[in-house]
Amino acid sequence: MYALMRSILFMCEAERAHYTAMRLLVMLCRIPGARALLRAMWRPAREEDSCELMGLRFTNRVGLAAGFDKDARWVEELACLGFGHIEVGTVTPAPQPGNDKPRLFRLKKDRALINRMGFNNLGVEQIKRRLQHRKPGGPVIGGNLGKNKWTPNEEAHLDYIRSFHALFDVVDYFAVNVSSPNTQGLRALQDKEPLTRLLNGLQELNRTKPTPKPILLKIAPDLNEAQLDDILEIVASTGISGIIATNTTLSRDGLVSDRALTAETGGLSGAPLTKRSTDVIAYLVQHRKKPFVIIGAGGVDSAETAAEKLSAGADLVQLYTGFIYRGPSLAGNIVRGLRTLYSSDRRRN
Ligand code: FNR
Repeated sequence: MYALMRSILFMCEAERAHYTAMRLLVMLCRIPGARALLRAMWRPAREEDSCELMGLRFTNRVGLAAGFDKDARWVEELACLGFGHIEVGTVTPAPQPGNDKPRLFRLKKDRALINRMGFNNLGVEQIKRRLQHRKPGGPVIGGNLGKNKWTPNEEAHLDYIRSFHALFDVVDYFAVNVSSPNTQGLRALQDKEPLTRLLNGLQELNRTKPTPKPILLKIAPDLNEAQLDDILEIVASTGISGIIATNTTLSRDGLVSDRALTAETGGLSGAPLTKRSTDVIAYLVQHRKKPFVIIGAGGVDSAETAAEKLSAGADLVQLYTGFIYRGPSLAGNIVRGLRTLYSSDRRRN
């Protein structure tokens, strides 16, 4: 069924197809009984799938990565598709249009995407208003924070603090995004000194709250070992809850799509990122001195690719590109697939 829909959607320009597909989901969800049916089909909820991390209860280990629902438009509809958590954003303090279109490209032969969206979003106040209306009992919601395009890096911490303040009461955890390749200079905030300052500032504010919220750092897959060692030190010294590994890559290694596509500027996601992001997770796990939460992202599109990340030491996984290629049943299929994989493992042991 999705194969047919996908071939129609793939005839449209990629960003337009995204909004069209989501409009169809919204329309479907308005039909009486449809949400319950979707949930029954795609939201397998069994106690054995759930886990407790950072003081939060996740109904399963599969989440929707940031960038898919930047403006928290579709949280309720996406919740019917079986995600244990949904990360909205990246959110910036002021609304911004992002880069010129086209800015999203499908590399079908590689099961990949290249995007240079540039943090297009409606701004934190609008997104806060949307999340205020969310119903209890849905998936865990993460708020992914970034800076406005025009904010200089020296003042970037003020952007993150403003959005942190605004979203504090409406999200369950925060992701600090300093790893998008599509905002000029943003990745420089991953350097030791500015990153320590940024995270300490957020933690200071967090500790003034009666119940602080978990803060995770989202990192790029293109960091070398020395940079990953710095990140490990920063996580330990600032006491944040964990790392999301990884964002999109600037690498174009091993692609088979046409050169006209692979030469597009932006971050690459999907199947070609799978191994590198899993290697980053494995490095973090092997070199950390104390445990912290790791959310694995990059090329998750099946129970097997999710299991690879979990075996490398991730506590949860997130996906975006896999959803475009495999369709709305993916999260539920992965949850069920992981159950089968783990129960056969248990039988073997
Ligand atoms: C993203 N990603 C992303 N990440 C982030 O932290 N903030 C964002 O705004 C976005 N925006 C975005 C847009 C598009 C079109 C894509 C494809 C991706 C990165 C995403 O959350 C994820 O980390 C990577 O895409 C790797 O996962 P997948 O796509 O390989 O499952």
